[in-house]
Amino acid sequence: EGVSTISLKVNGTVRAIRAEPRVTLLDALREYLDLTGSKKGCDHGQCGACTVLVDGRRVNSCLTLAIMTQGKEITTIEGLAKGDELHPMQAAFLKHDGFQCGYCTPGQILSAVACVQEGHAGSEAEVREWMSGNLCRCSAYPNITAAILEAKG
Ligand code: FES
Repeated sequence: EGVSTISLKVNGTVRAIRAEPRVTLLDALREYLDLTGSKKGCDHGQCGACTVLVDGRRVNSCLTLAIMTQGKEITTIEGLAKGDELHPMQAAFLKHDGFQCGYCTPGQILSAVACVQEGHAGSEAEVREWMSGNLCRCSAYPNITAAILEAKG
């Protein structure tokens, strides 16, 4: 199979990998770029653990080909904090205990950031609907919702 050079702009830095064109964005991040914050839960678009932002919109990175995201801005959990300063959504998750085991948390937080940025945090019901693709086995849902409602300000 042919290997291609795929150039990805992740958290503001352009990095090139050599991979087959079929490599997913999730595998590109985790296996090639060593950015393991994005988690592989189901690898089939059903759990949301792999959620990242592409040009500000959330995507399941397990369902996205890396090659299709060339030239776009990819944001992962590693890119949210500014130095020691947490992103307001990260701070809100901490304050409200929006996680237990933490496995789904990176995906939850990226989805939550998109929820607010895209104007879907108008009510608890709206937040729950938007976040329904991000599963949490520990059922921290009420705390996650509370964190998002606070972070939207
Ligand atoms: Fe992508 Fe579950 S790993 S949705």
